[in-house]
Amino acid sequence: MPQPAPRLPWVTVKYAQTLDGRIATRSGESQWISSETSLVYAHALRAQHDAVLVGVGTVLRDNPRLTVRLVVGRNPLRVVADSALRTPPDAALFDSPGQTWLAAVTPINAARCRALEARGGRVLALPPDGAGRVDLSRLLAELASQNVQSVLVEGGARLITTLLRERLVHRLVVCVAPKVLGSGVEAVGDLGITRLAEALTFQRSAFRLCGADVLFEGDLADAREPAFGPPEEAESR
Ligand SMILES: NC(=O)c1ccc[n+]([C@@H]2O[C@H](COP(=O)([O-])OP(=O)(O)OC[C@H]3O[C@@H](n4cnc5c(N)ncnc54)[C@H](OP(=O)(O)O)[C@@H]3O)[C@@H](O)[C@H]2O)c1
Repeated sequence: MPQPAPRLPWVTVKYAQTLDGRIATRSGESQWISSETSLVYAHALRAQHDAVLVGVGTVLRDNPRLTVRLVVGRNPLRVVADSALRTPPDAALFDSPGQTWLAAVTPINAARCRALEARGGRVLALPPDGAGRVDLSRLLAELASQNVQSVLVEGGARLITTLLRERLVHRLVVCVAPKVLGSGVEAVGDLGITRLAEALTFQRSAFRLCGADVLFEGDLADAREPAFGPPEEAESR
């Protein structure tokens, strides 16, 4: 019997890049590539989504809080894709109001799990994907089953790449800042695309100015069907 398709939340991926497509310098520094106006918009997006998702690489490099501070709004649930529970128990995530969930793969390291739970984290134990990392469609389905209807992904590059490769992204929001870095962390890695005809394309898209930056927003044409629509405020962009 074929398995029914998992119910997925609406997934928005948002990142800030330079003109040459870098989301961080070679040393991993990314705060801040975009202008203040774009940062305010990023916080508004956070407030609109039920959850914000990052990879553990971003937690280790940036130690983000992932809270809503530059606009008035509620803090989303924070979720980290963290196969081996590498998130440090003293991460700023745990000092911030709101909940933090860590998606890890089985078997779970019990000592790390206890240390993170002692800081208020909730560990979701998921079976690994083919590469031994968090199976992102399983994670998203798990979030949807807990009534998380919309997820804002805020990086980094590896997490974004897997989500795009697996067609799990419904909307892409890219802030392009008038800066050039040369070598650095590229926003999107290998998607397995070799022919131009295979490029990801958009059903609806628009560019607009956002402070000193240009903001692109588009809905991906071939994404896996979400069980929920975009968050309401995001609809009226
Ligand atoms: N400009 C921006 O908008 C922006 C935003 C965010 C971050 N950044 C920058 O991006 C850099 C971090 O990017 P990154 O690529 O190193 O890290 P990342 O994408 O934040 O995290 C990658 C890690 O997530 C874990 N993971 C678990 N399941 C995964 C899956 N299915 N697919 C992919 N990753 C999975 C893996 O670690 P495990 O195997 O241990 O689970 C992986 O190494 C930093 O320099 C940061 O400053 C920039």
